[in-house]
Amino acid sequence: MVLSSHVLDRVLVLEMVRVTEAAAVAASRLIGRGDEKAADHEAVEAMRAALNTLEIDGTVVIGEGERDEAPMLYIGEKVGSAQGSGPRIDIALDPLEGTTITAKAGPNALAVLAIAEQGCLLNAPDVYMEKLAVGPGYADGVIDLARSPGDNIRAVAAAKGVDPSEINVCVLERPRHEALIAELRALGCGIQLISDGDVAGVIAVTNPETTIDVYMGSGGAPEGVLAAAALRCVGGQFQGRLLFRNDAERARADRWGVTDLDRIYRLEDLAKGDCIFAATGVTDGSLLEGVKRRPGSITTESIVMRASTGTVRRVKGLHRHEPGGRG
Ligand code: FBP
Repeated sequence: MVLSSHVLDRVLVLEMVRVTEAAAVAASRLIGRGDEKAADHEAVEAMRAALNTLEIDGTVVIGEGERDEAPMLYIGEKVGSAQGSGPRIDIALDPLEGTTITAKAGPNALAVLAIAEQGCLLNAPDVYMEKLAVGPGYADGVIDLARSPGDNIRAVAAAKGVDPSEINVCVLERPRHEALIAELRALGCGIQLISDGDVAGVIAVTNPETTIDVYMGSGGAPEGVLAAAALRCVGGQFQGRLLFRNDAERARADRWGVTDLDRIYRLEDLAKGDCIFAATGVTDGSLLEGVKRRPGSITTESIVMRASTGTVRRVKGLHRHEPGGRG
């Protein structure tokens, strides 16, 4: 069966929230417990179980890794209870985006997924991706990864009618970003350094309340596809270029059919056609509140949005029992 927009709309939009809620709540048991692996494991198990209750013929295209390195939700794994008969859907997922954040009870950990019709999400190899993003409202082409960071900041500042020193940029705090940060400091930009979680970092450019104008720097390519799916729904511009550190990574790209290693990917190259993006906060952040566990109840906040309609729904959940059956 080919996925119709009717199916996407009526059945799957809110079902996606159940899936991210289950993963977020499962991971929340481990918030601040110093155990990244356990938090990730709980989220993965819960997300997989929730996906398998859906009447879909789903395939994980961005997941926990290649089959030999990930026991669950590996790339290529089939999920859903209607294999061969249900709508064929490709799924990009990160059951716990921000494992270290969760272990340290920091901000912006999310359970995330994006779905689209078969073949519409880039099969991104698990390598780094250089990322550049701005929110909605700018003319097409205001950002360009082929230009230097400074030139991009000047272009965004000119479009905004402000001095470059008034531009706020979100960057992952990593030694590999020292030169980038120095270039931004020389322009006097405000820099929000985040410890992890660049899906939330990229999405922050779409929310005026964060005051972040631009996202810059490299992070995981799979996270780039997830962030692109979100921007397809809420607007904004995103560009990404895969970064290869060695031959093994280039071979990985080859396995996924990536032949042009220098290609600059735009939003539609990463997530095309209609797609749905859903996330539930694990810890409090700029996008969502985190899971709150109180005696007798668990609360969650999620967002689900759809590219074809631009509809954004925020869903507050009050759970009397642990989603997925535990507790
Ligand atoms: P995990 O949840 O897998 O730990 O990823 C967190 C993250 O910060 C991503 O948001 C980001 O894309 C990537 O790690 C950056 O990788 P690195 O930590 O190697 O710089």
